[in-house]
Amino acid sequence: MKKIWSLVASVGLVLGITGCGATTQPTPNISNSANPAPEAGDLVFVSLPNEEDERWTRDGAELRRVITEAGYKVDLSFAENKIDRQNTEIENAITKGAKIMVIAAKNGTSLVSSVDKARAAGIKVIAYDRLIMDTSAVDYYLSFKLETIGQAQAQYIIDKLGLAKGEKGPFNVELFSGSSDDNNAKFYFRGAWELLQPYFANGTLVSPSNRVNENFSAEQWQSISIDSWKLENAQKEMEIRLSKYDEGRTALHAVLSPSDAISQGVINALRDSSFSQWKPGSEQWPWITGQDATNYALYNINQNLQGQTVWKDTRELANKTAEVCIQILEGETVSTDSSMNNNVLDVPSVFLDSVPITKTGESDAPGTQPVQFVIDSGFTTAEQLKQY
Ligand code: BGC
Repeated sequence: MKKIWSLVASVGLVLGITGCGATTQPTPNISNSANPAPEAGDLVFVSLPNEEDERWTRDGAELRRVITEAGYKVDLSFAENKIDRQNTEIENAITKGAKIMVIAAKNGTSLVSSVDKARAAGIKVIAYDRLIMDTSAVDYYLSFKLETIGQAQAQYIIDKLGLAKGEKGPFNVELFSGSSDDNNAKFYFRGAWELLQPYFANGTLVSPSNRVNENFSAEQWQSISIDSWKLENAQKEMEIRLSKYDEGRTALHAVLSPSDAISQGVINALRDSSFSQWKPGSEQWPWITGQDATNYALYNINQNLQGQTVWKDTRELANKTAEVCIQILEGETVSTDSSMNNNVLDVPSVFLDSVPITKTGESDAPGTQPVQFVIDSGFTTAEQLKQY
């Protein structure tokens, strides 16, 4: 066991989470008779929402790599965005004797019965990136600072439209939120709306589709949701919204998109529309935000099709998660510096930082970096950004 731990420590996975209000959750000693001591090679089950989104295939590969390198077995599965499938896979993993489950829920409120069964079988459950709601059977939650991501997206729009400098517009914008079954989506939108709302209130920002107006509230975020965060759903919704625009006249200045897949759907709809006022590459093309720093989004940013994305170094998230898994399996103390309520309990949590990205790093959003920054980190390569 010591050997494994030192391997983990040597690859730089020391948790090192401090900060005010730090809470320390002693993990139960798993070497008692009910829970025999874990062996190297214990199974960690990883369940991610889907394989079609670059976001999750990357996370899966990284989780598998770091947990395997630490000497444990990984069973990795993707739920194809199907609630039933994810529940069934969780139940199968209980039968296979998994010791820990790392789960990014397709639907945050639909895993109660399967994770409750996992808990009853003595399995630790880690909510990965997305919080699992409505159950006491979640031990830890690891993600990125959620509202900060929405704030960075809104800040980008405020900056590009010169709103803080007093530009009065009115500017036409379209706002989208993520999947209505994902707790993250609420927080991303809340962060963005907090900054954009004053400009709707004073008429500087308007939405020709009228999906959002000056009376909108963050609590209504699900009314502008894109189901399953899917590109196709975003494209369809954008096409519907464009029916409120007219050829050559109604401008579109900016689009608040919460993720790169949604941004791509919006870009497709704009590109396919017959309207002449926002031809790609023209000055009339809107400022479009995003999230995940996917290869296709970084490509789009280089082509001036998307303005911004928010990069979450998911290698860091996978490494932290692997570290927590190993600490649990080793009977070590797991430290967390935060918590998030899932309607039943405050789940001990860790939230990592993200980095807003634009083509050359220009933007008032604090900490914005250029696309090159993501390449320099080794997250992607310049070659991969030429492929789209
Ligand atoms: C994640 C985002 C991702 C989205 C769609 C969210 O829960 O936090 O990174 O873009 O799901 O997969």
